[in-house]
Amino acid sequence: MQNQANKLKDIVKNDITKPSHTKFVAITSGKGGVGKSTVSANMANILAKNGYKVALFDADIGLANLDVILNVRINKNILHVLKGECPLSEIIVPVSKNLILIPGESGDEILKYSDQFIFERFFDETAMLDDLDFVIVDTGAGIGGHIQLFLEAADEVIVVTVPDPAAITDAYATIKVTSKIKNNLHLILNMVRNEKEAKLIFEKIQKVAMSNIGDDLELNLIGKLPEDKLIAKSIKQRTLFTNDSPNSLASMDMKRIVNNLVYKLERKVLKDGVSRSFGSFFKRLIEQF
Ligand SMILES: Nc1ncnc2c1ncn2[C@@H]1O[C@H](COP(=O)(O)OP(=O)(O)OP(=O)(O)O)[C@@H](O)[C@H]1O
Ligand SMILES: [Mg+2]
Repeated sequence: MQNQANKLKDIVKNDITKPSHTKFVAITSGKGGVGKSTVSANMANILAKNGYKVALFDADIGLANLDVILNVRINKNILHVLKGECPLSEIIVPVSKNLILIPGESGDEILKYSDQFIFERFFDETAMLDDLDFVIVDTGAGIGGHIQLFLEAADEVIVVTVPDPAAITDAYATIKVTSKIKNNLHLILNMVRNEKEAKLIFEKIQKVAMSNIGDDLELNLIGKLPEDKLIAKSIKQRTLFTNDSPNSLASMDMKRIVNNLVYKLERKVLKDGVSRSFGSFFKRLIEQF
């Protein structure tokens, strides 16, 4: 008993002296191939270059490919940690200064491993990630159950779409389903010609959302990205366009998106001051299951 009480005191003390402030930003889409991973990787890169400590969490079930995009080698993923086969430190891949990759084979299988003992150990280990400022979660496309769990556990959800009608329809489906668990969603319009096109498409989506979902849902156009050969070229050569051409229009747009996100989150922190950590993110995931 005494031991447990001391442990609890330690936890409380740690919480006070070292508050965990990690923000979880989920990047999702209705249709596949609209630029989620490109956005996730470059968003994480810009945050890291600005001095934030960032992890990219590849939660795209079955199609995880951030290791390819970032040109790093991975062996094991978070499932191995949850199965108790290796420590968390063994799967984390350093990418660049302030940026790490957490390879994830996420979704249903992860949630099967709800063995109390393994989870307690896992949560203890996640303390090593407590100094992260941001975890960018690349969720994969669609409205599958496990994706919704990640969106629910995240602080901010960004839906990526491109201008083609099928993608817009699918983005809308994602917005509709997600509006049941979040009343604030961000949109990125990728591969648009200009700001005007982005705004027009956004307004269309917003109008449909207002009349079908209601005004409880706050939709926010957090930014746009141009269709740009430089972006496609960087993906092909397994580099990041925000590194290859930091002053291009595309990089400027990406920086604007990051600024908007940081601004939004800073205002939120002042309001709710809730403490977040990688462990608590996973707890929220599991609790929903
Ligand atoms: N703004 C852009 N301009 C030009 N090409 C782009 C742009 N955004 C993405 N692409 C290209 O589109 C392809 C798909 O991008 P990406 O892999 O980021 O999409 P995704 O949504 O993560 O796909 P998936 O659903 O398969 O995970 C990539 O080959 C990339 O080069
Ligand atoms: Mg992807």
